[in-house]
Amino acid sequence: MKTCLITGGLGFIGTNFIKYLASHRKDIAIINADSITYAANPCNIDEKTMVNYKFYKIDIANNDELAEIFKKNKIDYVVNFAAESHVDRSILNPSVFVKTNIEGTLNLLKLSLEHKIEKFLQISTDEVYGSLGKDGLFTEMTPLSPRSPYSASKASADMLVMSFFHTYDMPVLITRCSNNYGQYQFPEKLIPLTIINALTGKDIPLYGDGKNIRDWIYVDDHVRGVLDVLEKGRFGEIYNIGGRSEMQNIGIISLILKKLNKPLSLIKYVKDRAGHDRRYAMDFSKITEELGFKPQLNLNEGLDLTISWYFENEDWWKKIISGDYRHYYKTMYEMR
Ligand code: NAD
Ligand code: TYD
Repeated sequence: MKTCLITGGLGFIGTNFIKYLASHRKDIAIINADSITYAANPCNIDEKTMVNYKFYKIDIANNDELAEIFKKNKIDYVVNFAAESHVDRSILNPSVFVKTNIEGTLNLLKLSLEHKIEKFLQISTDEVYGSLGKDGLFTEMTPLSPRSPYSASKASADMLVMSFFHTYDMPVLITRCSNNYGQYQFPEKLIPLTIINALTGKDIPLYGDGKNIRDWIYVDDHVRGVLDVLEKGRFGEIYNIGGRSEMQNIGIISLILKKLNKPLSLIKYVKDRAGHDRRYAMDFSKITEELGFKPQLNLNEGLDLTISWYFENEDWWKKIISGDYRHYYKTMYEMR
């Protein structure tokens, strides 16, 4: 049996990855290390239902705490999801992004090297490539050109990861994915925020002219791609993961409102985000050709599943917007 250390496993994508791994790979024991920031939800994973699972509440930026996990357990794989992940928050407070996303990743790399782990997979983002004009796609060869403190911290982490490959011959892999949506996403991000505001009759803040474009991927597709790369990826390689679902923000909000039978008048145009990237779009032919990965759901199907989940899991998000976590839940528009 192999042991996989997953960081940030109480956040959105980490939670989905742990559930997928636990149900599809019974021969991998899971260690989840998460500091439980505002974006985590300890209820996401019910420890009573998990086998071969351990949870540690630790901050990856704290090397001593992290070292304890490596001392107490024989770790074979590391998958690093832990991060500060919201661009708007990075504009307000970049320091914590440097701490977690760069220093935390460096700590993980150093300990992984010291303990001779078999594979290190860094979960990165298409945002490291910067912003596209009307045409073109990001490939793995696109030069890094991050434009927000968030994407700059992720690009820095990627470069540290690659430096460990070149300098120490460490067995590293990187995935760069486009915008995810789906179950368990904290409602500060566009899609869950739109669903919840629509369900509760609140305005939906739309930044700038609303024509910025993102390439959306359903989270189940992303986590399948991550496992493909962990199992079959070549060391020292970067793999783009995309959804082939480009849409303007105004389009996605309007589609959600239509599906929920809510009026377009809920949309409120607000001041643009500083340095707002115009368009992201992915060429993910490398992972398709090398590892056979393709997204299975289109945006329409993924949105239906996502809306149903938020409909059926009111308790999950009501706790965030009005219960124990209320003080954390403020849309960036309210904070600015
Ligand atoms: P999230 O904000 O929902 O979850 C992040 C998790 O990391 C939380 O559980 C949080 O408690 C934990 N965490 C934060 N700081 C920590 C620290 N110092 N030590 C330990 N744990 C810490 O984020 P997400 O959307 O699930 O994103 C996960 C990863 O995927 C991130 O690395 C992000 O950059 C990347 N990514 C996200 C998207 C997206 O659309 N959400 C797209 C591409 C890549
Ligand atoms: P977001 O979900 O924050 O992801 P990212 O910034 O990482 O792409 O935002 C997605 C897009 O939606 C982005 O162009 C900003 C825009 N946006 C709004 O128009 N209103 C909002 O309230 C939010 C959160 C985002």
